[in-house]
Amino acid sequence: MDSFELNKIAAAVLIALLTVKGADLISRALIHPEMLKEPAYKIEGVSVTAQAGGTSTEKKGPLPIEPLLVAASVDKGAEVFKKCTSCHTIDKGGPNRVGPNLYGIVGAERGKKEGYSYSPAMANKGGTWTYEDLNIYLYKPRDFLSGTKMAFVGVKDDKDRGDLIAYLRMQNDSPLPLPTASPSQESK
Ligand code: HEC
Repeated sequence: MDSFELNKIAAAVLIALLTVKGADLISRALIHPEMLKEPAYKIEGVSVTAQAGGTSTEKKGPLPIEPLLVAASVDKGAEVFKKCTSCHTIDKGGPNRVGPNLYGIVGAERGKKEGYSYSPAMANKGGTWTYEDLNIYLYKPRDFLSGTKMAFVGVKDDKDRGDLIAYLRMQNDSPLPLPTASPSQESK
């Protein structure tokens, strides 16, 4: 093999590497969730303010849960759940502690874990734990339910909260379907 041929091979290898790296960079730029200036989805009652100029980073509340769930990592959510284990178990049939056992909580009726004594506010709230409700409750419990006795500051980081809710979802006999991220993904 002469050196001209070797050079050609080296060039081909280099081009292949650059192409792979380039495609990787482009796809990251395209799909990276932090590239979103505004949430892809808006939920009624949850306001996310996008100010003119877009320089303000002031936080007005939780980001919508759908895009967070789509990008979420269940494994990282298990890490975030360590903030909860001083008060909650989440294994199936686990005991109630300061707070109720949380197995199967996503989609479950609120305030209904057997043998647990809820605050009157939680006991009387009614309804089920939807993704949206958990998103607000876990962002700041007393914003969702002022009388709750869950003395917890909340998980303010949107990515952490998305990961956490994805983890809660999986601790279930039959996990609730994920919400649809954007209307375009509904096509069959
Ligand atoms: C300091 C203790 C404490 C910590 C920490 C805590 N909780 Fe709670 N949690 C409670 C208590 C107490 C209640 C019952 C609230 C009530 O009755 O108003 C509760 C209730 C709940 C409920 C409603 C349960 C039901 O059956 O309706 C959910 C969901 C929940 N907690 C999730 C979490 C998650 C997730 C974390 C971690 C990010 C967490 N909690 C951290 C004490 C805690």
